[in-house]
Amino acid sequence: MPRLGRTARALATLLLAVGAAAPALPAHAGPTAAQADPAHAAVPEKPLQHIVPAPVRVTPRPGTTYHLTPDTRIYTHPGSRAAEQVGEFLADVLRPSTGYRLPVVPGASGKGVSLLLTGADPRVGDEGYQLDVTRRGVVIRAKTAAGLFAGVQTFRQILPAKVEAKSKQRGPWTAPGGSILDYPRYAHRGAMLDVARHFFSVDEVKRYIDQIALYKVNKLHLHLADDQGWRLEIKSWPRLATYGGSTEVGGGPGGYYTQEQYKDLVAYAAARHIEVIPEIDMPGHTNAALASYAELNCDGVAPPLYTGIEVGFSSLCIDKDITYKFVDDVLREVAALTPGKYIHIGGDEAHATTDPDFIAFMNKVLPMVTKYGKQASGWHEFVKANPPASAVPQFWGTKTVAADMVEAAKRGNEIVLSPATKAYLDMKYDEHTPLGLKWAGYTDVEDAYDWNPGAYVQDLPAEAVKGVEAPLWTETLTKSADLEYMAFPRLPAIAELGWSPWSTHSWDDFKVRLAAQADRWHVLGINFYPSPQVPWK
Ligand code: ACM
Repeated sequence: MPRLGRTARALATLLLAVGAAAPALPAHAGPTAAQADPAHAAVPEKPLQHIVPAPVRVTPRPGTTYHLTPDTRIYTHPGSRAAEQVGEFLADVLRPSTGYRLPVVPGASGKGVSLLLTGADPRVGDEGYQLDVTRRGVVIRAKTAAGLFAGVQTFRQILPAKVEAKSKQRGPWTAPGGSILDYPRYAHRGAMLDVARHFFSVDEVKRYIDQIALYKVNKLHLHLADDQGWRLEIKSWPRLATYGGSTEVGGGPGGYYTQEQYKDLVAYAAARHIEVIPEIDMPGHTNAALASYAELNCDGVAPPLYTGIEVGFSSLCIDKDITYKFVDDVLREVAALTPGKYIHIGGDEAHATTDPDFIAFMNKVLPMVTKYGKQASGWHEFVKANPPASAVPQFWGTKTVAADMVEAAKRGNEIVLSPATKAYLDMKYDEHTPLGLKWAGYTDVEDAYDWNPGAYVQDLPAEAVKGVEAPLWTETLTKSADLEYMAFPRLPAIAELGWSPWSTHSWDDFKVRLAAQADRWHVLGINFYPSPQVPWK
């Protein structure tokens, strides 16, 4: 805040202090500072508070503003390639819009922007960071590159929205002074994308990865196979992709990722500190596989490809040896392509498989996941098979009573929460939403935001919750603009539940911070639903 007088500065201090406690001043609070004092013009347009997800602790430094200039350098921790890569990521965001060179150099300096792997408060842990903005410089400190990356996402949000533009814009490029201490509530902050019902190209998935990275999401669960399509090349069973991937809901051309393309996606996500969790859904949701190989069917007859949106009609043949040769081959190839810890084996809606068959199937498949060095995730139904404590059930129920999840937690399983009534991004917002489904009910932004993952499932201990995940099923979604319309603004809501401490939870606060994101979405070309619940400017 240069050239701000003493009185105005005191007023700004007061406003920022009030804002930290309760940013949403009621509408009847009388004239705002803008009306009362012309010096308001110097108050940064985006106060330090307008960050999603809400940081653990924000301490504004009123009267202090950092200016990015043509001479700014980005310093990264000497000797750390990972820190340098985060520096390059930041430079790639800032260069097109500012037109500045922003060289990324090893070193540390009070000036410019520094990304350092020393000196952070121990509370930052593996993914948190400290961010300090003074007049002279910006310093992000973390213990890991993931923490630096999270800090960079926060830094982006306190710069003017047009910094996200892909073409040169007019400055000034200011960030409000202050310091932030921040770290996540949960280790698992996921987004799931269904590329099976409709296929999404590598570039479309990368676009979504960029969008979820903005909100500190750290897991991308890819739903790679379902009745309507098989989307990953499997070299030992090539027809899965070439035939099983040849259509989609509605009969369109479908598609699949070659193994090289999948590896490219995994690397792109990893560069954004996002771990890909591939899902091969089984024993149900397998029509695309059954259509590709007749021998996988109990009667030896391949069904036709499927382009509708029914569920629960397909099953791998539980009693055939070839089924387990098939699953073993698929899991071996998927594990070899996936550096992450998890493989998701589905297990939902196996209505065409009896319970004893389901359990027999899982008892054979779960050890294969372990054999290939991975931990199993699965939709919550798979707890019927008593998976090992390392397995991660994903709760997608519509009720808050789930005795099977409580029992699984007693056996040592940590659970990811994706309650369909809260976290399913494919549910319509209201009766007018042109896209999406409504079987779990309409879900506007406040519904998506207003639940506590640590106290949601009755009797499930808070410490049994590994995190949250927002699934985006694509029966009705065919292009990026559709994905964005359903994910924004609800994805940031779920991301905040995964990251921010419960002590910061406030719908009245969140909706104001969310509204401030819209300028960025406009610049980034993100197609979002302008929910009437949010006070957009
Ligand atoms: C699911 O929605 N069938 C997991």
